[in-house]
Amino acid sequence: MGLTLIMGIGMRKRFGSKIVLLGLLLFWALNSSAGETKARLYDRIGGYDAISHFSNGLIDGFYSDSRLSRFTEGVTPPIEVVERDKQLTTEYLCKIAGGPCFYIGKDMHTTHKDMKITKEEWAALMDHAIRLASVWNIEPADKEEFLKLFDNIKLTIEVQNPS
Ligand code: HEM
Repeated sequence: MGLTLIMGIGMRKRFGSKIVLLGLLLFWALNSSAGETKARLYDRIGGYDAISHFSNGLIDGFYSDSRLSRFTEGVTPPIEVVERDKQLTTEYLCKIAGGPCFYIGKDMHTTHKDMKITKEEWAALMDHAIRLASVWNIEPADKEEFLKLFDNIKLTIEVQNPS
């Protein structure tokens, strides 16, 4: 019993520093590999400014596109409504791209589901999204990833028979 205890203490002394070293190495390895993970999409596409610029153009496009006039009756609403749309769209896109934003608008699915948005109407909005993202001077793969993320919103808002 006494011998086992002494041996136990001896082993701990001999291996203790090695275990600490191993632990440190593991910690370093895990951290350095975490450091190499890709930056969030939000950062890769240019952060808040890029998303805000994109959203402003998207809402302007939405209100001026005749293919979407059944939603707007061809009329641009008061500035405060347009500004609210732009702000909420910015926060929503920022959030889904992994940015530090809170979306405090109405639930997207509930807001849009009864509109029965057709795939042609969705394609019209996508035209604006593609045009607005085309000016970003970023990696093509990041642009593609953002446009894919954007296109997936059609599932959230129940676009009819999406392609
Ligand atoms: C063709 C596609 C779309 C159409 C036709 C459409 C149409 C509309 C309409 C008519 C409203 C006003 C609803 C109301 O106030 O009663 C609305 C609200 C809104 N939409 Fe869309 N939308 C589309 C796609 C999108 C996308 C892609 C986004 C985000 C990137 C978006 C974000 C919003 C937001 C944030 C609101 C306001 C929610 C609130 O009032 O809190 N919409 N949309």
